[in-house]
Amino acid sequence: MSWTARVLTLFPEMFPGPLGHSLAGRALARGDWALETVDIRAFATDRHRSVDDTPFGGGAGMVMRADVIDAALEAASLPGAPEIVLTPRGRPLTQARVAELASGPGVVLVCGRYEGIDQRVIEARRMEEVSVGDYVLSGGEPAAMVLLDACVRLLPGVMGAAESSTEESFANGLLEYPHYTRPALWKGWAVPEVLLGGNHAAIAAWRQAEAERITRERRPDLWAAYRALAEAAPTA
Ligand code: 6GU
Repeated sequence: MSWTARVLTLFPEMFPGPLGHSLAGRALARGDWALETVDIRAFATDRHRSVDDTPFGGGAGMVMRADVIDAALEAASLPGAPEIVLTPRGRPLTQARVAELASGPGVVLVCGRYEGIDQRVIEARRMEEVSVGDYVLSGGEPAAMVLLDACVRLLPGVMGAAESSTEESFANGLLEYPHYTRPALWKGWAVPEVLLGGNHAAIAAWRQAEAERITRERRPDLWAAYRALAEAAPTA
């Protein structure tokens, strides 16, 4: 059985979308992973096919019903796969969690719409709430695509040597160093001299220094974690 994503959504036609192209799309066509959408509306029970209702306590927007989401999840269950709801209220997605998810049998994703999902079904099913960043999307579908893209590229056989993941951002706790290719001089802009010299030790040292500088400037949070790790395990 290949790694499987079941995606519960009110907009199944949004999938595979970008996941049908490039690296993830080729892997999908090869059968390295499987993508199944589940139309949440198919599990509505009333004659209006309603999947949402007004929030208890008042306020703007609509809330997705616990009974409908639960019925859809019962039909979609994947043994051993976590049930994840995509929501800006969730824990931030990390490369470490992505690697764990990619090493399992797959994921069941619920794409929230409206103001969210009735909290009781999230707690009753011990679902994991995941966010893809500190900004608000109009629905969980693009967030589900982000999570799946990040997982799929880590599946065995999906990334060739050309897309090797060993030196990339987050693999070592730092953002990646900058890249350059021909022409060596472009609009008066030269490539850093050290990269043209063929001194591999000097190149590695320059790249490490650049990765550290960029991380310090852009991501003080990652920089602090990196420094704390270096403190605990010198030369690591
Ligand atoms: Cl997972 N969903 C929505 N709607 N917005 C988000 C998000 C998720 N992560 C960040 N913003």
